[in-house]
Amino acid sequence: MSLTASFREKIDQRTAVIGIIGLGYVGLPLALEFIESGLRVIGFDVDASKVTALNEGRSYIQRIEPATIAAAQGKGFRATADVGDMSACDAVLLCVPTPLRENHEPDMSFIEHTVEALAPHARAGQLIVLESTTWPGTTEELVVPMLERSVRVLRNGDASDNGVMVAFSPNAKTPAIPPRRAVRFPRCSAASTREQASARRRCTARSFSASCR
Ligand SMILES: NC(=O)c1ccc[n+]([C@@H]2O[C@H](COP(=O)([O-])OP(=O)(O)OC[C@H]3O[C@@H](n4cnc5c(N)ncnc54)[C@H](O)[C@@H]3O)[C@@H](O)[C@H]2O)c1
Repeated sequence: MSLTASFREKIDQRTAVIGIIGLGYVGLPLALEFIESGLRVIGFDVDASKVTALNEGRSYIQRIEPATIAAAQGKGFRATADVGDMSACDAVLLCVPTPLRENHEPDMSFIEHTVEALAPHARAGQLIVLESTTWPGTTEELVVPMLERSVRVLRNGDASDNGVMVAFSPNAKTPAIPPRRAVRFPRCSAASTREQASARRRCTARSFSASCR
């Protein structure tokens, strides 16, 4: 079976493992949505206090109850401070900060550090999705070249699917919308090949009501 077909099958059969990088206001609720949809999730964060809190069943986000974290643990959720654990994941979603600098341009250093750390652990058949708020083109211009230092990234017209799939799907979450209502908003996503866009849509199909390209 091809790597992309295997990815689809794992998502459809709910045997896929989702990796979430950055367990903040976007990443942690997203992790819980995937768990709710029946997928197993491993969350990675550089903040060791967040990793410890989650693994002890505690929450650091006010509207997320500790009981919700404990329930997620019961469904296989665990947090890690070891980026190498992302290699076990079928899809890895990057939810790291992009705060605006004084010149109103986003600070890309968090994305750069994340991709640099992740690249040696990325593997063919895996889907990597940038969820952070950033300018269109960041995936092609920044993320893909950094990944390509360690792993082959699939391109339009590739004869083989022996590479990493990459997509962009900026998180449109707003703190004013409760998590259960947020899943009814369509997710926007983009990728450079049909196969990668399809993998991205399939990945969130059970968690979100719709997606657009
Ligand atoms: N919070 C919102 O309501 C919201 C809404 C829409 C979009 N966004 C966008 O989503 C992205 C994430 O925002 P957020 O509010 O969740 O940020 P956040 O600060 O709440 O969480 C980011 C997490 O990433 C972790 N992190 C930082 N560098 C890391 C690294 N190199 N590796 C692993 N983890 C790392 C931090 O420790 C933190 O836990 C940003 O681009 C933001 O603009 C946020």
